[in-house]
Order: sequence, then structure tokens, then C-alpha cells
Amino acid sequence: MIEHCTFVIFGATGNLALGKLLPALYQLEVAQQLPAGMRVVGFGRRDWDDAHWRGEVERALAEKHTEPAVLERFLSRLHFFQGDLRDEAVYPALRDYLRDTPGLSPNLVFYMAIAPVDFGKVSHQLGAVGLNQEADGWRRVVVEKPFGYDLESAERLNQRLGSDFGEQQIYRIDHYLGKGTVQNILVFRFANLMLEPLWNRNYIDHVQITHSEAQGTEGRAGYYDGAGALRDMIQSHLLQMLTLVAMEPPACLDAESLRDEKVKVLRSIRPIPRNAVSAHAFRAQYARGRVNGAALPAYLEERGVPGDSVTETYAALKLYIDNWRWRNVPFFIRTGKRMARDNSMIAIRFKHPPQQLFRETHIERLKPNWLLMNIQPNECLRLELQVKQQGLDMRAETTRLDATSCGIDKAQLDAYQTLLLDVIEGDHSLFLRYDEVNWAWRVVDPILKEWSVERDFIHTYPAGSWGPEEASRLFSRDDQQWRNSLEED
Ligand code: BG6
Repeated sequence: MIEHCTFVIFGATGNLALGKLLPALYQLEVAQQLPAGMRVVGFGRRDWDDAHWRGEVERALAEKHTEPAVLERFLSRLHFFQGDLRDEAVYPALRDYLRDTPGLSPNLVFYMAIAPVDFGKVSHQLGAVGLNQEADGWRRVVVEKPFGYDLESAERLNQRLGSDFGEQQIYRIDHYLGKGTVQNILVFRFANLMLEPLWNRNYIDHVQITHSEAQGTEGRAGYYDGAGALRDMIQSHLLQMLTLVAMEPPACLDAESLRDEKVKVLRSIRPIPRNAVSAHAFRAQYARGRVNGAALPAYLEERGVPGDSVTETYAALKLYIDNWRWRNVPFFIRTGKRMARDNSMIAIRFKHPPQQLFRETHIERLKPNWLLMNIQPNECLRLELQVKQQGLDMRAETTRLDATSCGIDKAQLDAYQTLLLDVIEGDHSLFLRYDEVNWAWRVVDPILKEWSVERDFIHTYPAGSWGPEEASRLFSRDDQQWRNSLEED
């Protein structure tokens, strides 16, 4: 039985709230997962009342094919609290409002769907007016990414939050952990016996984790230009995926055991000294390009991007995990905006068989086995194997074993749906513990520092392509190359 609660959204009129959080809460309403006594309080600067906000949310949900009765029930949960989160005087008023408004549960969630610079301030003010105290109900605070701007600022933010809220009250969200397909990495690895004996340095040549996006900055230049691809995707989402691919089986599935194992992976990543950054990391920015005949602008031509920006829209890393399982197996991680298309995939390349049995035949060079886990937009598990071609000659060809789940699963739950429910239920398993965040910053910090002083030049790639060719320099052998999608071999 889920407890009733009041879900306060700071930044209620922003993109995250209207585009992700409220649709996810609506879907939970459809699934009858919201407790009867749950209310959602939007906190925003606009001079709106409950009725106006309900109208805005209704418009934001319009394209989601809502059901009138469910929508009405959902909208009736919504309230609006007008205030400026930078104004100290607003917090006592918020406390009184939450206490005195009939129908609001004393169990409180505070969701920070706001600019990261404000996380600490809001947390401090909530603490100052006692909204962190669990006297009559629980209090939970949800912090969006990016958690800090670098190692130092993450540390400061954590101290700030930690002096206002206890660790059990803090939920650091990484929405990738709410994706069913990402959780499937664990099930696939630990619910099957067959792969475990192969899942190590003896059999795996290298691992690639790629997240490509067709879109550009989409009106987020203000944030993105200050962040760049390494902070925006790699420090958080992609390193989380790497931990799931590389971790040891946890003792059990509780939050601490899982997070302990993830931290061990992050701690085992070989530090990249600043003088080795160029051998381990590559960055680039998109230039003009064409997709299906349509011209796409360069990053520097996007609205809100300074004309001399050297912010990377593409980043690729080569990491090594120095433990018994993975020593000397490179993990290549890359992400880019305005790439050929949207896709996220984990590609695991196995080594060649030790014996060259087919050397004297037409099979000059055997292709290696690949295990492909496509995360989105379609979920797919594919194993590529070599088989004999039909005919008299001894020739090989690639055949594919596809899991039947291959395809776009329309019923796929949105990541936020899963995660918001976890917050309401008080389950931390899919949220980040601070040591994970800290170790992930340590991985990228030397690169960020080096790139921040190298401001004269950045490589480019045409918008709509698979990224800069020069990024292949991260590979150490000729037979290694980027694996862009499920189709190619
Ligand atoms: C966000 C990044 O965290 O993740 C965005 O800030 C990125 O830049 C997004 O586009 C990708 O998430 P998804 O769920 O669309 O793959």
C-alpha cells in the first residue's frame, strides 16, 4: 500500500516538469498507482492559480491521448503555489501553505526541476523553515542531474544537501536507471548462466557504449553550452551503464548492495593523468550538415550559442577498469548530438578464437562475435555468430540470433514513471548514492580540466553523421572500429 503524499515540484512551469514529470504522474494515474490522498503542488513564479495551472497541464498532456475521466481525476490533484524560489520570504509561506491547506498530506516530496545553481539554495531554505523535519510525516528531496559541475562543486553541493537532509531523504536521480532496457542489463547478465563464464578479459576484446542523438540543442543552449557532452551524458548516464555492464553480482538486490558494486567499478577505473588526456578522450563539435536533403546548422549557428564556443557536442573516451575481470579490456564510450540518428547501444566484441583453423580456406579473416544490447529506441538483444555459407566452398558468413523482444515496445514505461513511483514508495535502489557521483566525477575531472584550458581548437563533424573520423584514434588496433548500429557488421 503506497502512502499518500504531497509532491511539490520546484520549477513547475519548466520543460522538465511539463514535458516529463507531469506526463509520468499522469501515466501513474492511468495505471492506478497514485495513492488516493496524493496531491501535486506546482511551485512557480507565474501569477497563476490552481485553475490556471490545471489548464496548462491539460494542454501539456493534450498529445498523450488522455482519457477524460482519468484526466479529471488527475487534474483535481493539482495545486499551484506562486513564489520565487530565490526569495527567502517565500519559504515560511510555503511551509504554512503545506501545513494549512486542507487535503494536503504531511508526507512531502520536494522535486528540484530547476536550474542546478539553485539546488543548494532551495535545500538550505527548506531546512531553514523546518521543512526537512520529519515530525508529522516523511520528507524526501529529489535532485536532478547535473549533480555539480565538477568534482569540487559536487562535493560542495553534497555538503549543502547533507547539512539540510539526511542521506535517506535524498534521491539523486539519473533517469537512465529508470529505463526498463537499462535494468535489463542486470537481468540479462545475472539471470542467465551462459554468458557469465565469457564475461571477462579472457574472452572479451572490448566494449563500446554509444548514445547518439539526431537532435541538436533544442532550445537548451543556455544550459548545454556550459555543460557539453562529457558532463551532460557521460559523467552520468553512460558511466552508469558502464557500471551495470562491468559490475560483479551484488549479494542481493537491495539498494546498498547494488550501489556498493557500482562504486567498486567506478573506483577501479584507471585514472587518466592530464598529460594522457588526448590518448584517452576525444571531443568535437558539429558543423553544418545535411540529413535527407535538409540543411542543418552548425552548433555555432544555433540560437543562444556564443560564436566562439568550444563546447563539445561529441565526446568519446577510452577507459580501463583495473580489476581481475576487466584489466586491459578497453571500454569505449561515446555520445553526440546531431548524429546520424537516435540510438543507444552496448556492443561487446569478443576475441578471435585462438586457433586459425580456417587459414587455408576461403575464410581469410574470421569476423569476431558481437553481443549487441540495443537500449533505445528499440530494445534488442542480438548475438552475431559465424556460420558456413551454403555452397561447395568453405566460406563463412555472419548470422544473427535475435531475442524476440527486438522492436520498438510501445508499452515501454517511461523512465520517470518508474522513478517517481520509487520516490513515493521510498525505494533508493535506482537512485545514486553520493559516492557514485563522486567517483564518476573523478573519472572525467582531469579531462574537463584539460579541455577547459585547450580553448583554441576543436574538431568538427558534419551534422547528421556518425561523428568525427579522427575519434577512431582512440582504438589501439586496426581491427577495432566504431560499431554504430545493430545493422552493420
Ligand atoms: C539528458 C540530457 O539527461 O538526457 C540530454 O541532458 C539528453 O541532453 C537526454 O538529450 C537523453 O535522454 P533520453 O532519455 O532521451 O535518451
